[in-house]
Amino acid sequence: MKKVIAIYPGSFDPPTNGHLDLIERGSHIFDELVVAILRNAEKTPLFSVGERRRMLEDLTADFKNVRVDVFDGLTVEYAARSKASAVLRGIRALSDYEYELQMAMMNRKLRPDLETVFMMPAEQYSYLSSRLVREVARLGGDISGLVPEMVEQRLKEKLDPAYKLANRKGKIIKAGK
Ligand code: PNS
Repeated sequence: MKKVIAIYPGSFDPPTNGHLDLIERGSHIFDELVVAILRNAEKTPLFSVGERRRMLEDLTADFKNVRVDVFDGLTVEYAARSKASAVLRGIRALSDYEYELQMAMMNRKLRPDLETVFMMPAEQYSYLSSRLVREVARLGGDISGLVPEMVEQRLKEKLDPAYKLANRKGKIIKAGK
């Protein structure tokens, strides 16, 4: 039987619990799921593509049918290269719908045989976005429960170099005691 491969494209800057929830749901319905990080030259991301890739690889290590990749250019062309027949996207609130519909229709115009599959994340992540996580973390707000612990740690290190230094010192002191 033909394997159904799907790509899950996005910026993932940083990956949130909403993304992970969708990856888990997608891994249950597709034979193979490729989490595809867009290398977007126009945006200035908080995390480099390499950092995002490493985080997502660690976070999805337990899903045997999920892999992580980076792509440039059109999503439909990347999907064709990956032999994917579906694009997975998450819809949180009604406000997502218009933008997602536009993208899905444009992708359909470019490649009619590529289906976009929308899934809803768990209710508790319905207001969650990477942009808000970045903003709250930058302003010192509590983001626990919204991103995996590892991402929370990386955000603290990224936004507060003193935190990284203090942690590193702590580790050195512990190791040397
Ligand atoms: O996480 P995001 O930023 O909402 O993801 C948007 C993404 C990466 C899915 C979209 O920007 C995209 O597909 N970009 C690749 C370029 C492309 O194919 N553009 C036409 C889409 S209709």
